[in-house]
Amino acid sequence: MKRPSQLLLAATVSVLPTSLALAQTATQVEDRMTTVAAPMAAAKPLADQAGVSGTVDARAGASSGRSPQMTRDNGAPIGSNRNSLAAGDMGPVLLEDVTLIEKLARFDRERIPERVVHARGTGALGVFRSTADLSDVTKASLFAQPGKETPVFVRFSTVIHPAGSPETARDPHGFAVKFYSDQGNWDLVGNNLPIFFIRDAIQFPDMIHSLKPSPVTNKQDPNRFFEFFSGTPEATNMLVHVYSNLGTPASYRTMDGNGVHAFKLVNKDGKVVFAKFRWISRQGVKSLNGDAVAKAPANFLTDDLYGSIAAGDYPTWDLMVQTMSPEELGALPYNPFDDTKEWLGVPFRKIGEMTLNEVPENFFRWTEQSAFAPANLVPGIEPSPDRMLQGRLFSYSDTQRYRVGANVMDLPVNKPRVPVVNNYQDGALDHARGKVDVNYFPSVTEGKSVDPAFAPTPYKIDAIARTAPISKTEPFDQAGQFYRALKPADKADLVKNLAGDLGVVTSMRTKVIMVSYFTQADKDLGTRLAKAIKVPMNEVDRAVAEYRSTVDARYAGQQ
Ligand code: HEM
Repeated sequence: MKRPSQLLLAATVSVLPTSLALAQTATQVEDRMTTVAAPMAAAKPLADQAGVSGTVDARAGASSGRSPQMTRDNGAPIGSNRNSLAAGDMGPVLLEDVTLIEKLARFDRERIPERVVHARGTGALGVFRSTADLSDVTKASLFAQPGKETPVFVRFSTVIHPAGSPETARDPHGFAVKFYSDQGNWDLVGNNLPIFFIRDAIQFPDMIHSLKPSPVTNKQDPNRFFEFFSGTPEATNMLVHVYSNLGTPASYRTMDGNGVHAFKLVNKDGKVVFAKFRWISRQGVKSLNGDAVAKAPANFLTDDLYGSIAAGDYPTWDLMVQTMSPEELGALPYNPFDDTKEWLGVPFRKIGEMTLNEVPENFFRWTEQSAFAPANLVPGIEPSPDRMLQGRLFSYSDTQRYRVGANVMDLPVNKPRVPVVNNYQDGALDHARGKVDVNYFPSVTEGKSVDPAFAPTPYKIDAIARTAPISKTEPFDQAGQFYRALKPADKADLVKNLAGDLGVVTSMRTKVIMVSYFTQADKDLGTRLAKAIKVPMNEVDRAVAEYRSTVDARYAGQQ
């Protein structure tokens, strides 16, 4: 989803005060959305803004006395770091130059595999402060009393393009928060958008393959991903969000964040409610239009975030929660565990605030090696049956054991701030477990214990296990609500942005089906899009009729 729209949006809409912004609206942010002018390059060099101490000249002047002696990794002092051990003036370099060999070998291993998705990211440290007593719905200790502080590490990202790609590419933008709580790490691994493209993890690799560059040309190709989406009507809601200006945020600071899935909250009496989490940006929600994106420097979002932290202008978000009892969930007209839907109309309650106030000292050690995982849950927060969340519980920790290594959780960025007590051991780069002889359980020699109070809450499953889609699908309703809530200029941008990518698709079948989905979301959206990409409306109407008559068979055929 990289192509920016070319439309220049002049309208600038003022941001509502926070109190109003928190009121429940039809969709996530339409009342708070602002499209802003093209960003300027950062006025000061990033290194200065981020607190790296001064220019090279200034730092050279400040260094006094003897510099530290360089050593090899074995600690032995190095005698030559500029000239290899060569056999005479004209002779070859000798293999016995262990300083050279070690230096090149370490350099050769500087990279780890980049994330398979969300490879381009920026991290910051900060603090979360609970503002409410949430013990009525969860025993999670970080929400135990107002004022309680929990350190956090946050990573913002784009999804599809590689580590060096522009941060302003059209994409959902990742908003992942690691809470170092006193009962272990809780990772809320979300996006700036409140919903997702698909509702079953089994489709995720296919979707990502279609969105990533072609394995033949190595270029991203709308022909490929719109072919995928033409078989995925439930993506319509996410597509109208991503192709709106929300897909190109003006700043990481001006994005809201969403946990997207429902989670199960459990209180100390074992009572269950289901919850969705949302971060509301105190900076407002501001986006770029296509014209502004085209002018934005590739690192603009990092420059902006690190610049504001260096200036002491710390960005802040309010953490909001929606809760519903199991009985209330049943009354919804859609599946409450379908992540292509928001819980519209369910009130939000503020439970905390987060401030980012520190740029990590080293990008690789913190941001690149960070391992956020939906499986990192704490007592009081459990998974819901959301089929996407269930797949994510496996996928992240699995990829991180491959991407970083078996001992990924021992790295400072990932290490809990509480003692880790278990019998896991060995693996590459094991260094942190100390002297252990009793590495089994149970043992009377050296006891470890488990408290049943921390066991997952029991729940009843009474169902036939089968591979079938969910029954209440409703793929278009919320997409239409989102479109109708946009301001006229934002509607025009959405049509322009969509037409930019859909217009280059060569298959008329794919174009007609895609327009038929947008038409079912909203007739005006479909009609304007059809006109923009020259798709005959009678073909679209036929596709709509066909969809309606075959929708059940279509889903049945995908099992
Ligand atoms: C079944 C569906 C999904 C699968 C299998 C999946 C898989 C992955 C994988 C393998 C990574 C790389 C992790 C790493 O290397 O550390 C990742 C990153 C990420 N995913 Fe997903 N994902 C899914 C859906 C989602 C959804 C629905 C969201 C938003 C709610 C999301 C948000 C993120 C974010 C924010 C990151 C980057 C985390 C970071 O900053 O390190 N993903 N995903």
